[in-house]
Amino acid sequence: MVKVSAPGKIHLIGEHAVVYGEPAILAAVGKRLFVEAEKHDAVKYVDLRWETDSKEWAVEDVLESTDRVLELWSHGTQTKDFSPLFNHIKADRYAGYRKAVVGIVMKKLGIKGGVKLAINCEFPTSAGLGSSSALSVAVVTAISELYEKQLSLSQINELSYDLEKIIHGTPSGGDNTASCYGGLIWFQKSSPQNVMMPLKEEISSMPEGFVLVNTREEKSSTGELIQKVRLLEESYRAPRIKEISKLVYEMKVALKSKKYDLMKDIINRDQQLLKELEVSTDEIDSIAEAVRKIGGAAKLCGAGGGGIMLCWHKDKDLLKRTISQLGYEPWETQLGVEGVRIEK
Ligand code: PMV
Repeated sequence: MVKVSAPGKIHLIGEHAVVYGEPAILAAVGKRLFVEAEKHDAVKYVDLRWETDSKEWAVEDVLESTDRVLELWSHGTQTKDFSPLFNHIKADRYAGYRKAVVGIVMKKLGIKGGVKLAINCEFPTSAGLGSSSALSVAVVTAISELYEKQLSLSQINELSYDLEKIIHGTPSGGDNTASCYGGLIWFQKSSPQNVMMPLKEEISSMPEGFVLVNTREEKSSTGELIQKVRLLEESYRAPRIKEISKLVYEMKVALKSKKYDLMKDIINRDQQLLKELEVSTDEIDSIAEAVRKIGGAAKLCGAGGGGIMLCWHKDKDLLKRTISQLGYEPWETQLGVEGVRIEK
């Protein structure tokens, strides 16, 4: 049996713009997703995050279903409409997605046998914390370890990116990169290879005072939210994407030079732009406003539409009290933790 864990992530800044080739800064967070893998004659998928969620399929079924999913993905890249893919993978409690996650790894690594996977996670899914990318990274690592494929981190990351495409259509690859390598990273989607730079040397420490909050709203998937932004008029979308990109560069300078008031303004300006891209919600807006009123900063994280927000104030206790008074639970976590690892 092999046990692997991979961390969730937050976007300090740059979500959505990163899909259009602009840079983003991401941090691995101190909550992890765990995958246990064992050899098996079929493909058994046990997701312990949802009670009694256990499924088993024959290997041939998994491989055939994977071909169908890959076909739908190719179709989506041509038509720029991934709805048929998203509908397909969601059906039957995400059976299509789950089979493809295992099927793609088996196909790419030339694995003939089956596998039993048990999945568990310390953070909520569909919240902007990158649970699907942590799953991708951990599943790739677990299956490759189990079948002794000795993949490098960069190979794990590349294959995880293929899994992310199935659930998100055209993801940037930033989430899986942050989960794979960990730490605080500068990421940019690029061809033929995405750019990843650890920021450890340049940004030796992060300020105190970050708190996460989960709005817990019922939300659309990342793929659907990416599609929503893509469907905005280009003349409206493009300048806002460029503006976010400028903020990403400014953020690096602010963090490097420890100018935290500047960092605060950048976060607030970024939230405004994400709102204009129509991925914020009333709840996010009202939390952001309350945090701004006490002199802090707050923004949505990841695709948006509800879920995790990143909040900052130099007085962390005041920030936590303000969030609690609004009826939400402030959540402290480490930023910049270790990436994927084999658990002993
Ligand atoms: O909501 P999440 O955790 O899946 O993050 C998505 C971030 C986007 O920039 C919107 C998409 C991407 O692939 O980078």
